[in-house]
This record gives sequence, C-alpha cells and structure tokens, in this order.
Amino acid sequence: MTEAVYDYTRQDATGATCTAHAWAKVPPPLTRPQREELKAKAAALLKAKNAVLVAHYYVEDDLQDLALETGGCVADSLEMARFGRDHASQTLIVAGVRFMGESAKILSPDKRVLMPDLDATCSLDLGCSPDDFAAFCDAHPDRQVVVYANTSAAVKARADWMVTSSCALAIVQHLKDQGQKVLWAPDKHLGRYIQENIGADMLLWNGTCIVHDEFRATELELLKAEYPNAMVLVHPESPKAVVNLADVVGSTSQMLKAVVDGAAKEYIVATDNQIMHRMRQLAPGKTLIEAPTAGNSATCKSCAHCPWMAMNGLQGVIDCLGRGQGEIFVDPAVARDAVRCIDRMLDFVAKNPSALAPRVQGMVRGIGAA
Ligand code: 13P
Ligand code: SF4
Repeated sequence: MTEAVYDYTRQDATGATCTAHAWAKVPPPLTRPQREELKAKAAALLKAKNAVLVAHYYVEDDLQDLALETGGCVADSLEMARFGRDHASQTLIVAGVRFMGESAKILSPDKRVLMPDLDATCSLDLGCSPDDFAAFCDAHPDRQVVVYANTSAAVKARADWMVTSSCALAIVQHLKDQGQKVLWAPDKHLGRYIQENIGADMLLWNGTCIVHDEFRATELELLKAEYPNAMVLVHPESPKAVVNLADVVGSTSQMLKAVVDGAAKEYIVATDNQIMHRMRQLAPGKTLIEAPTAGNSATCKSCAHCPWMAMNGLQGVIDCLGRGQGEIFVDPAVARDAVRCIDRMLDFVAKNPSALAPRVQGMVRGIGAA
C-alpha cells in the first residue's frame, strides 16, 4: 500500500485543509423563523435565476428540503453527477463538497456551477495530491487506474475509470473479468473491501475518510447486542472490522434503499448522521440508531458528521445566487482529460443498471427487493 499521510488537524494548515477551520466556518444555528425566512429567500432566488439545487444527503436538513421543494435533488455522489448533467438549467448550485462541484462542472462545462462554500473539501481528496498520484501511476503503467469520485479533477485526469461507492464493485469486477490489474486510490478501506470481495489484483493508496474511519467495531458489537433485531448498514469507507458486522454495505443511496425496503423495524447506521433526515422522511415508522464512533478524541470531533459537508448552509446558497459567489472553475485541459473516466463510469452504469444494487452480506434479515 502506498503512503499518503496527511494531518487534518494541523492548526497551521491553511484554508479548509484543517478540520478546526472547517468547523469554525459551519453556519451558526438559526431560529425556526430565521430558517424559514432564509429558505423562502433562497427558493425565490433559485426561481428568479433559473437555477437548480443539487444536494448530498450529508448536508443540513433545510438544504435537503429546499432542494426537493424547488425541483432539485438530494442524492449520493453518482446521482448528483447524473442529475446535474441531465438537468436543463444552466446554473447548478451544488451543496456538498468540492469534488462534487468539480464533477458537475467537468460534465457540463458550459453550465455555471456554484457552491455555498468553496472551502468544503474532503479528507480523501486532500490525502491524494496530483503529483504523488502521478508518480504512483508512472511506477505502474501496466495497471488500469481506478479512482474514487472523492478526488480532485487533476487526479481524475490521470485515471482510466472513476467509480463511486455505488458502482465500484461492479466496475472492478468488469476489469477483473477482462484480465486487468488495478491501481486504486484513494480510500484504503473501500479499496480493500473491493479487493476482498472480488479477488482482483489491486494496488491501494493509503487514504481515509475522517468520518467513516472513526466507526468502531467493538462498540458496534455491543450496540448490536442491545438491538439484536436491528439491521446494520455500513458505508464501505468504514474500517474492515465494522464492514464485517454489516448486513448491508453500500453507498448512501443504497443504505437509504435498505431502510425503505427492509422489513426490520430498527436500523444501525454507520455513515454521516445527516442521512437520517432523508431516512426519517422516506421511512417514518423505522427506528434509526447511529453507529458508535471513537468519541471526543477522534479527528472529526467524532459526531459522525463531516465538517466540510457541514459548511453548507442556506446563507451560502443565497450568496451564490445573489452575488455570484463560490463559482467552480476547472482548467479546461484538465477537464478534457478528467471527463473520460467519469463518462466511462456513467456509460457503464447506464448499460448495467444492476451494478447499483445494494450489497447484502451473509444472512439476509428482512431486506426486501434489494
Ligand atoms: P456516496 O457516493 O455514497 O454518497 O458517498 C460520498 C461520500 O463522500 C461518502 O462519504
Ligand atoms: Fe470526504 Fe468523508 Fe466528508 Fe465524504 S464524509 S466528503 S468521504 S471527508
């Protein structure tokens, strides 16, 4: 495994590379009347500017609701990319983290893509610098280069394939079936999960998501003992010991589907806790329980919430639309190279829709159509 050590808690780090900086930029809590006022203002601006809001499940409740109430979407990173590409609007507001805005711009270079806070980044992206990654690729020219969506445009420009957590297994299986060897970056847990499930020959980068890396297996076992009938849902960016305890492993959309379709009444959820908002809306009768994290000592101050996703707020959307703030630009030459690996993934999932089915492990307890 190649080394990629990055200290996200460095107080001297500039910009959003430091989690303390990210937490300091999280919008302050608002009263209900203030929230309603900002939401109405943002909705009016979206309409006036003919813009659409594309949000991830990890952003705050009001942004998710605003997206759905105004004809936008709340989705996982794959669906966000497809929705933004296919929507007629020439202005996309992407509420999520930077790689999501960059992917939207790469797929729609003629659209205007704006983000509530351009400092909203991702530990996986930060931990995979384009220069180090290029050296890794140069050292292994015989391998197909497969990168996770959570990377910069420059890293994608070096890749043969981009994948998201919803289609990674199917795409690497496809490469293995063709007799290909894989160079994988940056999430080491997702890479190892794919490697173990498929038995592909993969070289792994050593990156992690600071949120999912904090889920703890010992505490999860105790929680399972407390809720013996609960179904355990785990995002594959989590450590191996946690994934091993899962009933369903999948992307955020696949976890949501598992809650909606599942016959179980209780679900232990190992991903960013903001996804609970959409889960509660779509499966109101179900009990949702947060999977345990390392607690106060963890790098993300572990609350199972991504500090960079938390930077997105209603005021940010208003500032994008009102002042043209937060526009995403991607060097056109880099975008021309990067779009190839994204298009390859989108073509693959269009031709192989079954690639997006949630992965059910071991004994299947009460999962419906998944
Ligand atoms: P999904 O593609 O599952 O939405 O994951 C994106 C992400 O950043 C998870 O941490
Ligand atoms: Fe990146 Fe993790 Fe945040 Fe997702 S939750 S954006 S992988 S740091």
